[in-house]
Amino acid sequence: MKIAVDGPAGSGKSTVSKVVAKNLGITYLDSGALYRACAYIGTVTGKDGAELVEAVSHAELEFDTAGKLFLTLNGKTEDISTVIRTPEIAAKVSAVAAMEDIRTLVTDKLRKMASKTSVIMDGRDIGTHVFPDAEYKFFLVASPRERARRRMKDFEAMGFNKTIDDIEAEIIKRDKQDSEREHAPLKKAADALEIDTTNLTIEQVISIITETASNK
Ligand code: DC
Repeated sequence: MKIAVDGPAGSGKSTVSKVVAKNLGITYLDSGALYRACAYIGTVTGKDGAELVEAVSHAELEFDTAGKLFLTLNGKTEDISTVIRTPEIAAKVSAVAAMEDIRTLVTDKLRKMASKTSVIMDGRDIGTHVFPDAEYKFFLVASPRERARRRMKDFEAMGFNKTIDDIEAEIIKRDKQDSEREHAPLKKAADALEIDTTNLTIEQVISIITETASNK
């Protein structure tokens, strides 16, 4: 079984998908983490463009069973789960995720990771591009202010101080970049169920997705 959960930054995709995976006993895969990993590889190697694509093609990326992401680059393996969540990577990742060759590498990797098990995968193009035949597709949305509020909590927990206005402006900019890019833009699949999470609790969204995916 494949479940696709797409939507803009801060719409609740990852928080909800992790719990739904547990409820249904399937694997959660965070596709955004792989794009963040590509941006991180760019930061540590100083590479860009075709050179970055080359570096990513030689890198190994694996999730462990607890969902931590490990990068192996030039024979060295590190847990990058936390370093890919910094504001620096958040600011860079849209441009990296807009590169066609990077998208091809990440999409192949995601399909391989999901080939042997049932998964719930969150991202921007899962229902439209990575798994157009997914049995269940959801598209989560929320107001930019509410999404900024949620991101601010994440940043605060990591010790970064940013104002809600700045975060909201960055979110709007990133949505625009992700929606307007040429290759596999952020878009609701025609057959996806849209859920506006602005005024819903996490538990309510989890119930809608778990019940829909258990009942049909
Ligand atoms: O979900 P996130 O914030 O971790 O995603 C990081 C970036 O990666 C975001 O700018 C959009 C991009 N992305 C994408 O283009 N396609 C995906 N399937 C997932 C994420």
